Amino acid sequence: MAAVKILSSPSKEYYFSNDVMDINNSSDDDSDSIFSIQTSSSASSFTRTNSHLANYRYENNRRYQSYREGNWLLPNDEQEQDRMQIVDTMLSLLLDGELHLSPLSHPRRILDVGTGTGVWASDMAYKFPNTRVIGTDLSPIQVATPDNCTFEIEDADDNWLYPPNYFSMVHTRNLLGGITNWKRFFDETYRSLHPNGWLELHESPYKIYSNNPAYTDIPLMRTVTLFSDISARLGRVCGEEVFGFKALMEAAGFVDVTETRYRLPIGTWPDSTNEKEIGRYNLLNCLDGIEGFALAIVGQGENIDPQEMMDEARKDILNKRARLYTTFIILRGRKPAACEVLPAQR
Ligand SMILES: C[S@@+](CC[C@H](N)C(=O)[O-])C[C@H]1O[C@@H](n2cnc3c(N)ncnc32)[C@H](O)[C@@H]1O
Repeated sequence: MAAVKILSSPSKEYYFSNDVMDINNSSDDDSDSIFSIQTSSSASSFTRTNSHLANYRYENNRRYQSYREGNWLLPNDEQEQDRMQIVDTMLSLLLDGELHLSPLSHPRRILDVGTGTGVWASDMAYKFPNTRVIGTDLSPIQVATPDNCTFEIEDADDNWLYPPNYFSMVHTRNLLGGITNWKRFFDETYRSLHPNGWLELHESPYKIYSNNPAYTDIPLMRTVTLFSDISARLGRVCGEEVFGFKALMEAAGFVDVTETRYRLPIGTWPDSTNEKEIGRYNLLNCLDGIEGFALAIVGQGENIDPQEMMDEARKDILNKRARLYTTFIILRGRKPAACEVLPAQR
């Protein structure tokens, strides 16, 4: 696995204007409850030192990674990075600000695979100032971090070059669609964790659900399912296959494997204030993300009109009556200590 160190990256600031949020919005359409996000960043200081990696591919006014071109179907531009930030905030609300569920005491090294902008890796580095945190990704889009956090450009789908027993924790978040061989991924993480180290996956299968029985087959659902099917055809599962990962982790040798599922409403239809708030972020996530999906579908040769697909899907996303939601799953497992494992299994 080729690794390229990224030494520094620009800082990024997000401004959330709460004054346009409307928690008590009671209309059937969620379009009036969207809040605006502005971003002030540029990747220019990165591109000066790593221009060969930032030789991006542009298509339909969106930017894609050039390293291992085509291995990730979604863009890596500002719009996509803003979406990652929205998801980060949404998940922070969901998990009450917790970054992980695994019990970590004095972790030595933490690996964040598919780190994106590096926001989780950076937060972990602040939380554990004596821990070395490494974030890896196909795209050099990481933003400023504390000194104990570094980034590398790597394809996690390759064989891993990290030494055995190296990490205290390996983490992924929304990496579904980026890995062709999850069995190998679990074998590699198992090998690279030290005994009692933790693997923790935070993943959202690409599937839209409704708890209104009148909405079981709507354009948004069909779009997301088509994206998921295409990705699976390319060998990159990103749908409900994740519900089989617990068994794969156990087969790789992990113990104390647990799976926790959450509901992420789309929009402000739930009753509880917290779910409404989560739903508002998920609404933005879906509205922003749908273009990347539609373009990926066209890019894979499907005969659809992407604008029509986006318009219909956005109408569904904003329809409160549809009571739509996505799911989020946290899977975690521990590499057993040597004394827990039979010699043949070590
Ligand atoms: C949806 S983003 C999530 C980013 C980050 N984990 C977060 O939660 O903010 C997925 C990221 O995984 C990266 N990725 C996909 N496949 C990968 C692979 N095989 N190896 C390394 N990174 C990968 C993509 O480039 C993208 O930045």
